[in-house]
Amino acid sequence: MKFHEVRDLVRLTAPPLDRRARVLAAAWTVEDFRRAARRALPRSVFDHVDGGADEEESLRGNVEAFRRWRFVPNSLVDVSAPDLRTRVLGRPVAAPLGLAPTGYTRMISPLGEPAVAAAAAAAGLPYVLSTMATTSLEDLAAATPTLDRWFQLYVWKDRTLTEQLVRRAEEAGYGVLEVAIDTAVSGHRVRDVRNGLTIPPALTLSSLVDIGTRPGYWTGVLRHDSLTFANVSPGVEGTAGYTIEDITTQFDATVTWDDVARIRELWSGKLVIKGTVGPRDAVRARDLGVDGVHLSNHGGRQLDRTVAPVDLVAPVRAVVGEDFGVLVDSGVRHGADIATAIALGADACFVGRPYLWALAAAGEDGVSRVLQLLLEQFRRTLQLLGVTSIAQLRREGCDLLVHAGSGDTPKP
Ligand SMILES: Cc1cc2nc3c(=O)[nH]c(=O)nc-3n(C[C@H](O)[C@H](O)[C@H](O)COP(=O)(O)O)c2cc1C
Repeated sequence: MKFHEVRDLVRLTAPPLDRRARVLAAAWTVEDFRRAARRALPRSVFDHVDGGADEEESLRGNVEAFRRWRFVPNSLVDVSAPDLRTRVLGRPVAAPLGLAPTGYTRMISPLGEPAVAAAAAAAGLPYVLSTMATTSLEDLAAATPTLDRWFQLYVWKDRTLTEQLVRRAEEAGYGVLEVAIDTAVSGHRVRDVRNGLTIPPALTLSSLVDIGTRPGYWTGVLRHDSLTFANVSPGVEGTAGYTIEDITTQFDATVTWDDVARIRELWSGKLVIKGTVGPRDAVRARDLGVDGVHLSNHGGRQLDRTVAPVDLVAPVRAVVGEDFGVLVDSGVRHGADIATAIALGADACFVGRPYLWALAAAGEDGVSRVLQLLLEQFRRTLQLLGVTSIAQLRREGCDLLVHAGSGDTPKP
């Protein structure tokens, strides 16, 4: 073969010059965004997002638990137009997927929560703003009026502050309040302790070295407003930045069901408790007038060695009935995970790290792209499963899944 013939066959295209465009062009999986985030972020910030508590057993177990389920597809179904739309806690969503609350988002990208919210709104998905956000409840509402906005509450030692947060969320039009109940004390995040992480990240000798290798991160951080908690004051002294443990000393370790009952009285919208909630506590929550549970082990960042939340979906659904909300996060990395959770009885899945990695790597466009990837994977999974709607996936879920290694076989 002659050279000019080979040249005609090979089409050389120049890679995009802009770093974000390069990331977007090469991101085909959530893991691609994770790797891009590792390149974009200083080590201590990447580890803060990526890491879990103690020996990271829960962190690993969360992802593995989804992968132990195997599909048994329906055969020969017209799947040309699957419908991903559904309702979560009575609210219409484009798909059963939401963006879980994460604190300190401006530490990951100066674009912060507004960029995440804009991507969520564009995709028609809900976003839960954290108490520890670096954008205020009111500013986020003003910036993204079309967003289905939810608020995650930490109960503070200062109960007046807690009640003010509930009222502010109501006034700013948040539709769902999620009370995090897994944070009586902070989980022991060994990577953060080892790296000496503070918020904001301190300029140490190693971060000065880091500036040379990650100029984009540091110029972004230095050019924008200083990193502050926009909804609350951490109430701890110190000018050199707070450690996570400093901040979480303000969370109240005395919180009980009475506090949930009190919040129920204060909040007229939908109320959800977020944590590793087992069947017995889910029933107790329902009986108190709570509208749903967000099954989560905080992405493996709190109590290590917890059961993977996805493995709680079926037992919780079995005791709470159909009209109670069952949401799940921790370890969702592929659209097939969403299909698994819904088939097991969840109303929706949430993601945390996937959108933070995408934000770090490629800003708002990155978040949009990772949501699009997850939804494309979910759609394709439904089509190959022979399922055309979320209602069908819920209804036929038990027949569509077997647990690998458990010896289960599909029912006749
Ligand atoms: C960096 C980071 C910060 C988080 N901050 C909060 C928070 O402020 N409030 C909260 O309820 N959960 C928080 N979470 C937990 C998430 O809401 C969610 O439960 C978890 O990320 C889901 O697991 P995944 O990251 O495997 O998707 C945080 C998670 C991460 C990774």
